[in-house]
Amino acid sequence: MNIFTKLSVATLSLSVAMYASSTTTVPNAPTKYPAGELGKMVKLGEDILNNTNTHPLTKDLVNNKLQCKNCHLPDQNGKPGAGKGMSTLIGTATVFPAWSKRQGTIQTLQDRINNCFMRSMSGTRPIIDTKASMAMSAYITWLSTGLPIKMNAKATISPYNFDKYVKGKKKFAAIQKKATHQNYLAGKKLFETKCASCHGINGAGVPGTFPPLWGKNKKGEWLSYNTGAGMSKLNKAAVWVESNMPLGQGGTLSDQEAADVVLYIDAQPRAAFTLKDHLFPRAKMGYYNTKVTTEHDSVRSNFKAFGLNIDTIRGDRVIQ
Ligand code: HEC
Ligand code: HEC
Repeated sequence: MNIFTKLSVATLSLSVAMYASSTTTVPNAPTKYPAGELGKMVKLGEDILNNTNTHPLTKDLVNNKLQCKNCHLPDQNGKPGAGKGMSTLIGTATVFPAWSKRQGTIQTLQDRINNCFMRSMSGTRPIIDTKASMAMSAYITWLSTGLPIKMNAKATISPYNFDKYVKGKKKFAAIQKKATHQNYLAGKKLFETKCASCHGINGAGVPGTFPPLWGKNKKGEWLSYNTGAGMSKLNKAAVWVESNMPLGQGGTLSDQEAADVVLYIDAQPRAAFTLKDHLFPRAKMGYYNTKVTTEHDSVRSNFKAFGLNIDTIRGDRVIQ
C-alpha cells in the first residue's frame, strides 16, 4: 500500500465517523427567516404546524383535534418540529425525493406531509399547489437550512430519525409480539400514574393544552390519530413515546414500560382507516402519489399484525 492509498483510507474512515456522529446530534433550528415573500411563506407554514386544526387554510382538512406540533415537538423557542427527540423535522427536507415502501413510489416532501394529513390528522390531503401545502413544505425546508442534501433510497425519514427509528421498530416489534393481558394491565397502571395527569384518565386530553390520545367527544367526533397512522402501530408508537414522553422526561421509561403503555393506548377506540374513502374525487381529496391503492386498518388488524388478539389482550370485547 503506498502513502496515497493509506491517506485516502484514513480520510474515508474519518468522514464515515463524522457522518455517524453528525446524525446522532440534532442541530438547532435556524434563527433567521428568509427575506421578503419567502420569509412570509415560511412563517405561514410555522403557524399551520402550530394551529393545524384551527388555521383557516387547513381546518377543513383536519378531522380530529390534533396539531402537527403535538407529535413533531417544538424546541425551547417553540419552533414546531425542531425538538431533538424522535420525529424531529430537522434534516427531513434533505432526504427528498425519497423512496417510500408504504406507497411503492418516489415521494416529495409535500407527498410526505399529505400522508400525515390523512392518517395522523385523520383528514384530507391538501392539494399540492395550494398555499397551505407550499407553506408547510417551505417551513420544513427552512428547518434544514445549511444541512447537506442526501436523498434517501430507503425511507422518507430524516437522517436524525433514521437509525433510531429502524432499530427501535425492530426492538419493539420483538417485545410486542410477546404481549399478554398482564402487559395491558401494566400499561394501564403506568398510563394512570405517568400520563393521565395531562392526557386525562379517558385519553381525551385538555382542549388547547394537552392533546387527546383516543376516543370521541360528546358530539361524537373522533379526537386523535386514526388506525392508519404511524402512532397506531405498536412498535412505531413505542419508539416515539420512549423518546418523547412523559413531556420533558423523554428517555426515562424502560423498553418494557414504553411497550406496555403503547399497548394500552393503541388498544382503545379510534377511527378506522380505509384508503378508498380518501382517494376520490381527486379534485377534492388531493393527489396521492402511490402504487398501493388498497389499505384497511382497524385497532383489531393493528394488533393482528403482531400476532395479537385484541380481545385476549384487553380481556373484553369492547373493540369491534
Ligand atoms: C399523531 C402524531 C402525528 C401528527 C399529529 C403528525 N405527524 Fe407527521 N409523523 C408522525 C410519525 C410517527 C412520523 C414518522 C413515522 C413514519 O414514517 O411512519 C411522521 C413523519 C412525518 C414526516 C417525515 C419526517 C421524518 O423524518 O420521518 C413529515 C414531513 C411529517 N410527519 C409532517 C407532518 C405534518 C406537516 C403534520 C401536520 C399536518 C404531521 N406530520 C402531523 C406522527 C405525526
Ligand atoms: C406534563 C404533561 C404530559 C405528560 C405527563 C405526558 N404527556 Fe404526552 N403530551 C403532552 C403534550 C403537551 C403533548 C404535545 C406536545 C406539544 O404540542 O408541544 C403530548 C403528546 C403526546 C402524544 C402525541 C400526540 C397525541 O395526542 O397523540 C402521545 C402519543 C403522548 N403524548 C403520550 C404520552 C404518554 C404515553 C405519556 C405517559 C408515559 C405521556 N404522554 C405523558 C403532555 C404530557
